[in-house]
Amino acid sequence: MLNKKTIWDIQACEGQRVLVRVDFNVPMQNGSITDDARIRAALPTLQFLKDKGAKIIIMSHFGRPKGTASDDLRLAPISQRLSELLNSPVTQLTDCIGDDVTSAVSNMNNGDIIMLENVRFYNEETNNDSNFAKQLASLGDLFVQEAFGTSHRAHASTAGVAQFIPAYAGFLIEKELEFLDKAISQPQRPLIAIIGGSKVSTKFNVLKNLLNVVDTLIIGGGMTYTFLKAQGLEIGTSLCEDEKVEEAKQFLEDAKSSSTNVILPVDQVVVPEFKEDAPSQIVDNNSIPSDHLGVDIGPDTIELIQNAVKDAGTVLWNGPLGVFEMKPFSTGTFSVANTLASSNAITIIGGGDSAAAIAQAGLTDKMTHISTGGGASLEFLEGKVLPGIDILEDQ
Ligand code: 3PG
Repeated sequence: MLNKKTIWDIQACEGQRVLVRVDFNVPMQNGSITDDARIRAALPTLQFLKDKGAKIIIMSHFGRPKGTASDDLRLAPISQRLSELLNSPVTQLTDCIGDDVTSAVSNMNNGDIIMLENVRFYNEETNNDSNFAKQLASLGDLFVQEAFGTSHRAHASTAGVAQFIPAYAGFLIEKELEFLDKAISQPQRPLIAIIGGSKVSTKFNVLKNLLNVVDTLIIGGGMTYTFLKAQGLEIGTSLCEDEKVEEAKQFLEDAKSSSTNVILPVDQVVVPEFKEDAPSQIVDNNSIPSDHLGVDIGPDTIELIQNAVKDAGTVLWNGPLGVFEMKPFSTGTFSVANTLASSNAITIIGGGDSAAAIAQAGLTDKMTHISTGGGASLEFLEGKVLPGIDILEDQ
């Protein structure tokens, strides 16, 4: 459970300048937002503060501008979308510190909302520069952390500001941690984790941390092939992180003496070249042709996963099980999404790709919780302390 103060603990919001860090790093194409889930996720906190008469000053990053202002990474389209969703004006500023910002904030009325410009236009943001954090903090009387997706970063606007003003968790942070923490510390069992994605190097810590915690751990996606190679199998031209093969071998060895049942795919969809219209075939793990690569799990693996999930109490899913962006290789990912959607288990989805696959399948509403944090939810599952949460006031 979250042992940090939340906005419920703020005694009086009226007239207070509340600095809210959100993660509005949303997918955008040609200046249009393609998925506004992260904006919607912050609405309850923003509406609550507005209704209580706070002066709301919002901070966010967008993309990775590396300390330089660039027009395509300005927040104007995002604040416009926020304004539509809140049905209320949101004033977009063109900077996040400086005299103009200070003066705009000092002219705010209760219930007004200001959005500062992309904080990553300053290198001081990612460097967690204390002076920059102080300037941001000077804009508020209180800080509300609502950027779960960025809470694994110790940046000026996610952690630094809390050195100067009291910091509280927003509703989204509370909800994210409630689901993720409960799934690990007091899960409804059997607890199943499905971990996919292309690179095992980005998921190894999670896999290791889940051993002896989850009842069943299903591995899928491109990282499967590093494990198959570790088992001495031919993987053809499939994706493989050769430098991780030994670690994969050790992991499979450790898994044997753990309380976790680790399941690897048993069959694969393979193609001679990485093209959507390449002719595909289904083969078992022992028959991957040396000139083919794996792009999806096969039907036997789908059935294996369906059986494993059937009586699950909780399912954690992070990472697609095949190249779902290409329709012919999306069957595994979408079948598992459908299985989860119709299961009675608590289903918790982390990671942008899995969330995107579920949205594409129109199943978003069928999941218990879709995390707004990719890297953050992974780091949480790795057992790491999230700096953006750590700095909040203790209960
Ligand atoms: C994300 O999209 O995962 C978060 O907004 C964090 O972004 P970052 O990886 O650029 O810090």
